[in-house]
Amino acid sequence: MANTKVSVLDVQQAKEDGRKLVMMTAYDYPFGLMADEAGVDIVLVGDSLGMVVMGLEGTVEVGMEHMIHHIKAVVRGCKGPLIVGDMPFMSYNTSIREAIQNAGRLMKEGGCEVIKLEGGVDFAPTIQAIVKAGIPVQGHIGLTPQTASALGGFKMQGRDAAAAHQIIDDAKALEDAGVFSMILEAVPAPLGKLVAEAVKVPVIGIGAGPDVDGQVLVTHDMVGLFDKFVPKFVKQYTRIRPIILEALGEYKKEVQEGVFPGPEHSFKMPAEALTQLKKMIEK
Ligand code: KIV
Repeated sequence: MANTKVSVLDVQQAKEDGRKLVMMTAYDYPFGLMADEAGVDIVLVGDSLGMVVMGLEGTVEVGMEHMIHHIKAVVRGCKGPLIVGDMPFMSYNTSIREAIQNAGRLMKEGGCEVIKLEGGVDFAPTIQAIVKAGIPVQGHIGLTPQTASALGGFKMQGRDAAAAHQIIDDAKALEDAGVFSMILEAVPAPLGKLVAEAVKVPVIGIGAGPDVDGQVLVTHDMVGLFDKFVPKFVKQYTRIRPIILEALGEYKKEVQEGVFPGPEHSFKMPAEALTQLKKMIEK
């Protein structure tokens, strides 16, 4: 996919065709452009921006205005992939009416095509209402970062049979509510497979093993731009932080030593104008 605009239907078709979906996060214009150029299927403007861009401890403090601001920047650069806007904590938890209004704002003001929200069975009525209002919804179950403290921290979910069964029930409830796909985060790989088999919509895993319908990673983790902590399920395909640090160190040294800017980075002035200027200054 991705020479043309990826649609919700394309995402659903991928599961039928047995083609793995590729999803990544982006929070700004340069990464939006790179996601587009890389030709991924789906770009999530995730509320993980709280941690990897805003320097917060978690996602709870991220608000609607932050999300809209970042979605707009990504949308400007990213034309092919389907763009998902993440609903921030407490933007869909207090009432269905508010949830629909806020989902609409992410689309109308931010410019994303679909929204994502966290939660299982309990959020099925909210999802159903948003879908009925004409807004495609991606679910998010397993480890749900916005409520991580209630889950005992950023830990693997579905450890015992009962907890694992609940996650399968959550997936089925989300499918019945009308999601077009769902994220499944931090569960044992065999459970990932069972969840993907239990529903017809694509299940996109992050720490859910290989036997799901696609993968998503937080891009800043995957490229080693944010390495305060690296979850077990993250593969670092490169480590750009040390590369940037080396460049910054070199820049600092060259400025301090008067090496930068050299003639090739400086503008010239016609000799005649310079002579005239000097005479004017001397007067
Ligand atoms: O906010 C985010 O980046 C997410 C991913 C972890 C899926 O929800």
